[in-house]
Amino acid sequence: MSRVPTAVLVSGRGSNLKALLEASRDPSYPAEITLAISNEPEAPAIDMAAEAGCEVALVPHRDQPSHCQFETLLQTHILESACQLVCLAGFMRVLSPAFVGLWAGRMLNIHPSLLPSFPGLDSHRRALEAGVRLSGCSVHFVTEELDGGPIIGQAAVPVAPDDDEASLAARVLAAEHRLYPVCLALVAEGKVRMEEGRIVWDAVASGDALLNPSA
Ligand code: GRF
Repeated sequence: MSRVPTAVLVSGRGSNLKALLEASRDPSYPAEITLAISNEPEAPAIDMAAEAGCEVALVPHRDQPSHCQFETLLQTHILESACQLVCLAGFMRVLSPAFVGLWAGRMLNIHPSLLPSFPGLDSHRRALEAGVRLSGCSVHFVTEELDGGPIIGQAAVPVAPDDDEASLAARVLAAEHRLYPVCLALVAEGKVRMEEGRIVWDAVASGDALLNPSA
Protein backbone atom coordinates (compact mmCIF):
# COMPACT_ATOMS: atom_id res chain seq x y z
CA MET A 1 0.00 0.00 0.00
CA SER A 2 1.44 3.38 -0.88
CA ARG A 3 0.90 5.94 1.82
CA VAL A 4 0.04 9.56 1.10
CA PRO A 5 2.96 11.84 2.00
CA THR A 6 1.62 14.63 4.18
CA ALA A 7 3.01 17.92 5.49
CA VAL A 8 1.91 19.41 8.81
CA LEU A 9 2.14 23.17 9.36
CA VAL A 10 2.54 24.34 12.97
CA SER A 11 3.33 27.44 14.99
CA GLY A 12 3.57 26.30 18.59
CA ARG A 13 3.22 23.38 20.97
CA GLY A 14 2.66 20.70 18.34
CA SER A 15 0.54 18.23 20.28
CA ASN A 16 -1.67 17.57 17.25
CA LEU A 17 1.43 17.11 15.10
CA LYS A 18 2.60 14.58 17.70
CA ALA A 19 -0.71 12.71 17.49
CA LEU A 20 -0.44 12.59 13.69
CA LEU A 21 3.20 11.44 13.85
CA GLU A 22 2.22 8.68 16.27
CA ALA A 23 -0.63 7.52 14.02
CA SER A 24 1.67 7.60 11.02
CA ARG A 25 4.18 5.33 12.76
CA ASP A 26 1.84 2.43 11.98
CA PRO A 27 2.80 1.20 8.49
CA SER A 28 -0.85 0.42 7.77
CA TYR A 29 -1.90 4.06 8.41
CA PRO A 30 -2.80 5.51 4.98
CA ALA A 31 -0.91 8.81 5.38
CA GLU A 32 2.73 9.36 6.25
CA ILE A 33 3.82 12.58 7.93
CA THR A 34 7.00 13.31 6.01
CA LEU A 35 7.42 17.03 6.70
CA ALA A 36 6.69 19.45 9.52
CA ILE A 37 6.93 23.17 8.79
CA SER A 38 6.95 25.87 11.45
CA ASN A 39 6.74 29.61 10.88
CA GLU A 40 7.91 30.17 14.48
CA PRO A 41 11.61 29.43 15.11
CA GLU A 42 11.00 28.87 18.84
CA ALA A 43 8.04 26.51 18.45
CA PRO A 44 8.38 23.47 20.77
CA ALA A 45 6.86 21.43 17.93
CA ILE A 46 10.13 21.65 15.99
CA ASP A 47 12.31 19.71 18.43
CA MET A 48 9.55 17.20 19.09
CA ALA A 49 9.15 16.48 15.36
CA ALA A 50 12.90 16.28 14.75
CA GLU A 51 13.28 13.86 17.68
CA ALA A 52 10.51 11.76 16.15
CA GLY A 53 12.61 11.53 12.97
CA CYS A 54 10.42 13.81 10.88
CA GLU A 55 11.96 16.20 8.38
CA VAL A 56 11.50 19.74 9.70
CA ALA A 57 11.55 23.02 7.80
CA LEU A 58 11.64 26.44 9.40
CA VAL A 59 9.95 29.18 7.41
CA PRO A 60 9.85 32.26 9.65
CA HIS A 61 7.26 34.62 8.20
CA ARG A 62 9.02 37.63 9.73
CA ASP A 63 12.07 37.00 7.51
CA GLN A 64 10.02 37.29 4.34
CA PRO A 65 9.40 40.61 2.62
CA SER A 66 5.77 39.74 1.86
CA HIS A 67 3.09 37.22 2.72
CA CYS A 68 3.19 36.08 -0.88
CA GLN A 69 6.89 35.23 -0.62
CA PHE A 70 6.27 33.46 2.67
CA GLU A 71 3.65 31.28 0.99
CA THR A 72 5.92 30.66 -2.01
CA LEU A 73 8.54 29.29 0.37
CA LEU A 74 5.96 27.09 2.10
CA GLN A 75 4.89 25.73 -1.26
CA THR A 76 8.49 25.07 -2.30
CA HIS A 77 9.15 23.02 0.84
CA ILE A 78 5.92 21.08 0.50
CA LEU A 79 6.51 20.25 -3.16
CA GLU A 80 10.18 19.36 -2.61
CA SER A 81 8.99 16.76 -0.10
CA ALA A 82 6.44 15.52 -2.64
CA CYS A 83 3.63 15.96 -0.11
CA GLN A 84 0.13 15.49 -1.47
CA LEU A 85 -1.82 16.55 1.62
CA VAL A 86 -1.33 19.41 4.06
CA CYS A 87 -2.60 19.48 7.66
CA LEU A 88 -2.75 22.75 9.58
CA ALA A 89 -2.26 22.05 13.28
CA GLY A 90 -2.14 25.22 15.33
CA PHE A 91 -0.71 27.14 12.37
CA MET A 92 -1.23 30.79 13.27
CA ARG A 93 -0.97 32.47 9.86
CA VAL A 94 -3.99 33.10 7.68
CA LEU A 95 -3.35 31.67 4.22
CA SER A 96 -4.27 33.61 1.10
CA PRO A 97 -7.06 32.54 -1.26
CA ALA A 98 -4.36 31.81 -3.86
CA PHE A 99 -2.52 29.39 -1.58
CA VAL A 100 -5.75 27.82 -0.32
CA GLY A 101 -6.80 27.35 -3.95
CA LEU A 102 -3.62 25.43 -4.73
CA TRP A 103 -4.55 22.92 -2.02
CA ALA A 104 -8.32 22.84 -2.43
CA GLY A 105 -9.61 19.51 -1.14
CA ARG A 106 -6.10 18.57 -0.01
CA MET A 107 -5.64 20.83 3.01
CA LEU A 108 -7.18 20.13 6.44
CA ASN A 109 -7.41 22.15 9.63
CA ILE A 110 -8.39 21.36 13.20
CA HIS A 111 -10.34 23.87 15.26
CA PRO A 112 -11.18 23.59 18.97
CA SER A 113 -14.96 24.06 18.77
CA LEU A 114 -17.97 22.40 17.25
CA LEU A 115 -18.05 24.51 14.08
CA PRO A 116 -19.81 26.57 12.86
CA SER A 117 -19.96 27.76 16.48
CA PHE A 118 -17.02 29.80 17.73
CA PRO A 119 -14.69 30.09 14.72
CA GLY A 120 -11.54 32.20 15.12
CA LEU A 121 -9.71 32.88 18.37
CA ASP A 122 -10.77 32.33 22.01
CA SER A 123 -13.16 29.49 21.18
CA HIS A 124 -13.18 28.05 24.69
CA ARG A 125 -13.84 31.39 26.39
CA ARG A 126 -16.73 32.07 24.03
CA ALA A 127 -18.14 28.55 24.48
CA LEU A 128 -18.11 29.04 28.27
CA GLU A 129 -19.69 32.49 27.98
CA ALA A 130 -22.42 31.06 25.75
CA GLY A 131 -23.15 28.36 28.33
CA VAL A 132 -23.05 25.44 25.90
CA ARG A 133 -23.33 21.96 27.46
CA LEU A 134 -21.27 20.33 24.73
CA SER A 135 -18.13 21.61 23.11
CA GLY A 136 -15.52 19.80 21.10
CA CYS A 137 -13.41 20.05 18.00
CA SER A 138 -13.82 19.93 14.24
CA VAL A 139 -11.60 18.89 11.37
CA HIS A 140 -12.51 20.58 8.10
CA PHE A 141 -11.21 21.18 4.61
CA VAL A 142 -9.59 24.59 4.35
CA THR A 143 -11.34 27.15 2.18
CA GLU A 144 -11.00 30.92 1.89
CA GLU A 145 -13.37 31.38 4.82
CA LEU A 146 -11.52 31.19 8.15
CA ASP A 147 -12.58 27.97 9.95
CA GLY A 148 -15.47 27.83 7.48
CA GLY A 149 -14.70 24.93 5.13
CA PRO A 150 -16.72 21.72 4.84
CA ILE A 151 -16.56 19.68 8.03
CA ILE A 152 -15.01 16.21 7.83
CA GLY A 153 -15.33 15.12 11.46
CA GLN A 154 -16.25 16.31 14.90
CA ALA A 155 -15.68 15.11 18.44
CA ALA A 156 -17.92 16.31 21.24
CA VAL A 157 -17.00 16.65 24.90
CA PRO A 158 -19.19 17.65 27.83
CA VAL A 159 -18.74 21.07 29.42
CA ALA A 160 -18.62 20.72 33.21
CA PRO A 161 -20.32 23.32 35.43
CA ASP A 162 -17.00 24.24 37.05
CA ASP A 163 -14.95 24.34 33.84
CA ASP A 164 -12.63 27.22 33.15
CA GLU A 165 -10.86 27.84 29.84
CA ALA A 166 -7.90 25.65 30.82
CA SER A 167 -9.94 22.63 31.92
CA LEU A 168 -12.22 22.80 28.88
CA ALA A 169 -9.24 23.26 26.54
CA ALA A 170 -7.54 20.19 28.02
CA ARG A 171 -10.65 18.03 27.54
CA VAL A 172 -11.11 19.25 23.96
CA LEU A 173 -7.40 18.77 23.19
CA ALA A 174 -7.56 15.10 24.18
CA ALA A 175 -10.44 14.74 21.70
CA GLU A 176 -8.44 16.59 19.03
CA HIS A 177 -5.68 14.03 19.31
CA ARG A 178 -8.16 11.24 18.58
CA LEU A 179 -10.09 13.04 15.86
CA TYR A 180 -7.35 14.42 13.63
CA PRO A 181 -5.72 11.05 12.81
CA VAL A 182 -9.15 9.56 12.01
CA CYS A 183 -10.02 12.42 9.64
CA LEU A 184 -6.64 12.47 7.90
CA ALA A 185 -6.94 8.72 7.33
CA LEU A 186 -10.38 9.13 5.75
CA VAL A 187 -9.08 11.79 3.35
CA ALA A 188 -5.90 9.83 2.53
CA GLU A 189 -8.00 6.75 1.75
CA GLY A 190 -10.32 8.78 -0.47
CA LYS A 191 -13.33 7.96 1.70
CA VAL A 192 -14.21 11.63 1.99
CA ARG A 193 -13.46 14.44 -0.41
CA MET A 194 -14.44 17.98 -1.22
CA GLU A 195 -16.26 18.66 -4.48
CA GLU A 196 -17.48 22.14 -5.44
CA GLY A 197 -17.12 23.27 -1.85
CA ARG A 198 -19.16 20.40 -0.41
CA ILE A 199 -18.29 17.16 1.35
CA VAL A 200 -18.72 13.91 -0.57
CA TRP A 201 -18.70 10.74 1.50
CA ASP A 202 -18.13 7.13 0.83
CA ALA A 203 -21.38 6.09 2.56
CA VAL A 204 -19.65 3.44 4.62
CA ALA A 205 -17.24 5.89 6.21
CA SER A 206 -19.41 8.84 7.15
CA GLY A 207 -19.92 7.63 10.73
CA ASP A 208 -16.22 7.08 11.35
CA ALA A 209 -15.47 10.75 11.95
CA LEU A 210 -18.06 11.28 14.69
CA LEU A 211 -16.64 10.87 18.15
CA ASN A 212 -19.18 11.20 20.93
CA PRO A 213 -18.81 12.05 24.58
CA SER A 214 -18.46 9.16 26.96
CA ALA A 215 -20.13 11.02 29.82
C1 GRF B 1 -5.29 23.25 18.96
O1 GRF B 1 -6.23 23.51 19.97
C2 GRF B 1 -5.93 23.37 17.60
O2 GRF B 1 -7.26 22.98 17.57
C3 GRF B 1 -5.83 24.85 17.32
O3 GRF B 1 -4.59 25.24 17.85
C4 GRF B 1 -4.22 24.34 18.90
C5 GRF B 1 -2.88 23.80 18.55
O4 GRF B 1 -2.37 22.98 19.58
N1 GRF B 1 -5.99 25.13 15.91
P1 GRF B 1 -1.10 22.08 19.30
O5 GRF B 1 0.01 23.00 18.82
O6 GRF B 1 -1.46 21.06 18.27
O7 GRF B 1 -0.77 21.47 20.62
